Amino acid sequence: MGDPGTLSLIEALPKAELHMHVEGSLEPEHMAELARRNGVSLAFGSVEEIRAAYNFGNLQDFLDLYYQGMSVLLTARDFEDLAMAYFKRCADQNVVYTEIFFDPQGHTDRGLSLEPVMAGLTGAIARARAELDVEVGLIPNFLRHLDEDSALRTYDEMVRYSDQILGFGLDSSELGHPPSKFARVFARAKADGFKLVAHAGEEGPPEYVWDSLDVLGVDRIDHGNRSLEDPALVKRLVADDMALTVCPLSNLRLCGVDAMENHPLRAMLDAGLTVTLNSDDPAYFGGYLMENFTAIDQALEVSRDEMVAIARNGFAASFLSDKAKAERLAAFDATL
Ligand code: HPA
Ligand code: ZN
Repeated sequence: MGDPGTLSLIEALPKAELHMHVEGSLEPEHMAELARRNGVSLAFGSVEEIRAAYNFGNLQDFLDLYYQGMSVLLTARDFEDLAMAYFKRCADQNVVYTEIFFDPQGHTDRGLSLEPVMAGLTGAIARARAELDVEVGLIPNFLRHLDEDSALRTYDEMVRYSDQILGFGLDSSELGHPPSKFARVFARAKADGFKLVAHAGEEGPPEYVWDSLDVLGVDRIDHGNRSLEDPALVKRLVADDMALTVCPLSNLRLCGVDAMENHPLRAMLDAGLTVTLNSDDPAYFGGYLMENFTAIDQALEVSRDEMVAIARNGFAASFLSDKAKAERLAAFDATL
């Protein structure tokens, strides 16, 4: 348990979130409402049944439900409502900047075009700025369980929206799908000037983190927990000041850790790694950004200064322009 007052300080500080899948912010009540509105049948009879199914043994258990859940999203209005609900949570928790992930192939593979997806998300992003003073960046992720040709086709479709996206990421089933499988599409994105991220070391081995750095050339690592198994990799991540977007409640719910007390965050800090905290899929894992700070504060010996540094890293490791980043960091320091 941290110092008393740490959490109220974190709450009061302006915060950034860098790892949140917008489809993973679909709350069960909203899922049931959209199923009704769109005439989509779900495998569940009630909101309670949906919630009761959120009992995962690993990443794939979760993903199976997550892809089912997103099947209720059909129209631009659905995507706008989904994103607005999350942006309101951001405003409530003083999250003033968020870089959100979405899965284009999760929608095109079930017959949707990208048009309603992008219209809904960009509409919500404009409203978040105007109505909530929340600034949002957009990062489409490639589904790594699909082949690279599918990712390349998705890339070609997404570049039409290049002025509305920050970069590209890689998510979904990690084991058996190394980052190197996506070397060509990431090389194209890099050549075109996009920022790059990849989920690595969530369930996969340290080699997938090495691959993300050396083959894909990413700017941040999503999760990265298993990096700690390889001292040379830790040294490299520290030397590069490579930020990890750590998601404690996600790790607990997907059984990457058996108890929050055993979360690797303490070891990451001791190793000098640049760590940020994030909610990943907040509707599925039991909480938004503040709930993740709270879980860490309750379970681990993390000092007030360390918690503040973690929150500050959210801006420092963001893809904001240098000018906007300096302004956000100055506002953060002034609030302190
Ligand atoms: N890991 C991998 N893929 C995902 C996740 C995750 O935590 N959430 C949504 N897609
Ligand atoms: Zn994730």
